[in-house]
Amino acid sequence: MAGPLLFQPIQLRDITLKNRVVVAPMHQYSGVNGYPTDWHLMNAGKFAAGGAGLVIVESTKVDRRGCGTVGDLGLWKDDFVPHFARLVDFIRAHGAVPGIQLGHSGRKARLSRPWEGGVPLKPGPDIPDFADWELVAPSALASSEGEPEPRALSNAEVKQLVEAWGQAARRAHEAGFDVLEIHGAHGYLIHQFLSPRANVRNDEYGGSELNRMRFAVEVTEAVRAQWPAHKPLFLRLSVQDDAGWGPDESVRLARIVKDKGVDVIDCSSGGMLGRPVVSAGPVGYGYQVPYADKIRREAGIMSMAVGLIVHADQAEAILQNGQADLIALAREILYNPNWPMDAAQKLGVDKQFAMVPPPYAYWLAKRASASKTVTPSTFRTGIEESARQ
Ligand SMILES: Cc1cc2nc3c(=O)[nH]c(=O)nc-3n(C[C@H](O)[C@H](O)[C@H](O)COP(=O)(O)O)c2cc1C
Repeated sequence: MAGPLLFQPIQLRDITLKNRVVVAPMHQYSGVNGYPTDWHLMNAGKFAAGGAGLVIVESTKVDRRGCGTVGDLGLWKDDFVPHFARLVDFIRAHGAVPGIQLGHSGRKARLSRPWEGGVPLKPGPDIPDFADWELVAPSALASSEGEPEPRALSNAEVKQLVEAWGQAARRAHEAGFDVLEIHGAHGYLIHQFLSPRANVRNDEYGGSELNRMRFAVEVTEAVRAQWPAHKPLFLRLSVQDDAGWGPDESVRLARIVKDKGVDVIDCSSGGMLGRPVVSAGPVGYGYQVPYADKIRREAGIMSMAVGLIVHADQAEAILQNGQADLIALAREILYNPNWPMDAAQKLGVDKQFAMVPPPYAYWLAKRASASKTVTPSTFRTGIEESARQ
C-alpha cells in the first residue's frame, strides 16, 4: 500500500527526507549581531519535534550589509560556524533534516522589525556600525518612493558578493546543514538583479535578460563550488513579481540553474513592488501552487509549493496532482508546530506516532488506541469543509 505521498520519503541527492513536509524559511528577528540565540533552538526544535522532514532556517545573510533588520542571522565570517553547528545538531537530534536559506537584502536592508513598522532605521548608539550597514543594489534606485536610495555596486563589488555567497555556503556546510536554499525572491538582492525595475546597469550584469540573470547564475556556481555534490541545493524565486518578471522568465532561469546544480525551485512570488511580499492576484488557498506546477512541468526540475497551504488534504492533493514535489509551510506551522504529526493522523498514517519523539509518541498512541470516541482538537475541518463555509 503506497499511502499518502506527503508521508513518503524523498531522496534529494544523498539526503533523504522522511516525508515531504518542509518548514519554510522564516525570519525570527531574534539574532544578536548575526548570531543565533536560544530562541532559534526553540523555534526550529519544535518544528523538528513536530515531525517535519526538513526545517529550513531563515534567510541568513552572506554579508553584513545584507541584513534586513537588527535581528537577522549571518554567516559572513567563520566565527559564526560553531553557533550554527549547535542549531544543526539540535534540529537533527529532534528528527528533521537541517536546512538553511542564504540571503542578502540589497536595497531592502536596514529596516526596523515588521511589528515596529518595517521602516528605515536611523543612526544611533544602538547601531554602532550603521555606516557599514550600507544599502547596496544593482542600481541606485529606491524600492519605492520615499525609501532610501541604495548605492549601485561596482563591477568588482558584484564579483566580491558572488564570492561571499560561496564562502557562506562553505560555512553552512561546515556547520553541518544538509540542504541549502539560495534566496532569489521577494525583492531582495538576487531578485533586484533579475528585475528590469531594479537593475538598469550597463555592464555584463544588466540590460538583456541573460545579463540580468548573470548574478543569480554566478551565485549558483559559487555556491555549488563550495556546497558538496552529495547535498541538495534549492533556489527560491518570486516566480511572478507583477513588475516585469514572470513565470516564463522563471522557467528560463530554472532551466539554466538546473544545469548548474540546483535541484529544487521553491516557488514564491511578489516583493518587488513595495516592502512586503505581495501578490496582485487573489490570495487564497495555495495561490502560488500554479507556479510550482509550471516550473516543474516546463523546466523539468523538482518544485516546492508554498503559500497558504493549510490543510493536510490540500497538501496531499497538490502532490497527487503532480503540481509539486515538496510542500512548504510557514504561517500554518507557526499556528500548529505539530502540523506534520496532525496531518499524518488525518491522512490515516502513523497510528503509533512514530514520527514524533517518544515522550510525545508514547502518550498520544496510548490515547488514540484507548479512546476511540475522542478526536483531537484540530479534527474539525479540512479544505473541503472550509471552502464551503
Ligand atoms: C515570520 C515570517 C518570516 C519569513 N521569513 C522569510 C525568510 O526568511 N525567507 C523567505 O524566503 N521567506 C520568508 N517568509 C515567507 C515564507 O517563507 C512563506 O513563503 C510565506 O509566509 C507564505 O507561506 P505561508 O502562507 O505558509 O505563510 C517569512 C514568512 C513569515 C510569516
